Amino acid sequence: MKKTITVSSFKGGTAKTSSVLHLGSALAKYHKKKVLLIDFDAQANLTTGLGFDPDEHDSLAPVLQGTKSIEEIIKKTTVPNLFLAPGDTWLERVEVTGSLAQDRYSHERLRKILAPLEYDYILIDTPPSLSWLTESALIASNHSLICATPEFYSVKGLERLSQFITSIGTRHPLDVLGVVLSFWNPRGKSNDAFLSVVERAFPGKLLETKVRRDIAVSEASVVGKPLFDVSPKSRAVEDYKGLTKEILQRM
Ligand SMILES: Nc1ncnc2c1ncn2[C@@H]1O[C@H](COP(=O)(O)OP(=O)(O)OP(=O)(O)O)[C@@H](O)[C@H]1O
Ligand SMILES: [Mg+2]
Repeated sequence: MKKTITVSSFKGGTAKTSSVLHLGSALAKYHKKKVLLIDFDAQANLTTGLGFDPDEHDSLAPVLQGTKSIEEIIKKTTVPNLFLAPGDTWLERVEVTGSLAQDRYSHERLRKILAPLEYDYILIDTPPSLSWLTESALIASNHSLICATPEFYSVKGLERLSQFITSIGTRHPLDVLGVVLSFWNPRGKSNDAFLSVVERAFPGKLLETKVRRDIAVSEASVVGKPLFDVSPKSRAVEDYKGLTKEILQRM
């Protein structure tokens, strides 16, 4: 059965986009899965990170408005078996424009759009807010992955996100796959304090694999390709491969 996973956080810069990009590419490249990545953020960093110019391609905005089909906007990427539904600035406040503005059930649209698609995995990248986009993505998913960094403000946002996900979970079946910590410093002095905050907000959900800070991640995004081909020997490649295996085990 198809698995749809939303990657989210309340705070910005927690490596959501990098996680979607590398989990998705690892599933396609090393685990032979057919994967669709959805850039559901007006910043369109995932789109740029895969080498596409957001100004030159349609996002899901016209699909949500009912003027295009999703098949028309999906792109093949340089990674075999990895596909992208691009993002662009039209996603910003899309819910208050066109036919969505009148629709009381607009939050359900993405779920209906994705339902007939045939992929092994669909991964949705969301903006750093509990906005319409994030809520629609969670409603369209059966799993969620939470991103955080070992900083006080990042882990504080976890409590709020936990409440948000719980409230959506009362209306739709939604399982929290885990919490992934990025920008990890194995020798950080406050590590234990951060880990216990995560445990309080999402008991038993902290993933063993942590993604260490590695300049190779931002270098790869400049080239517009996932790390696996650009810096195959980097720490981040090792971490993302381990993270992918751990997530597959949890499913
Ligand atoms: N493990 C890492 N080590 C070093 N830099 C990283 C790492 N992971 C991500 N980065 C870099 O940090 C920045 C933020 O990462 P990313 O865009 O993935 O976060 P995000 O949560 O999607 O941000 P936003 O909330 O703005 O959408 C990017 O420049 C990215 O290349
Ligand atoms: Mg992002």
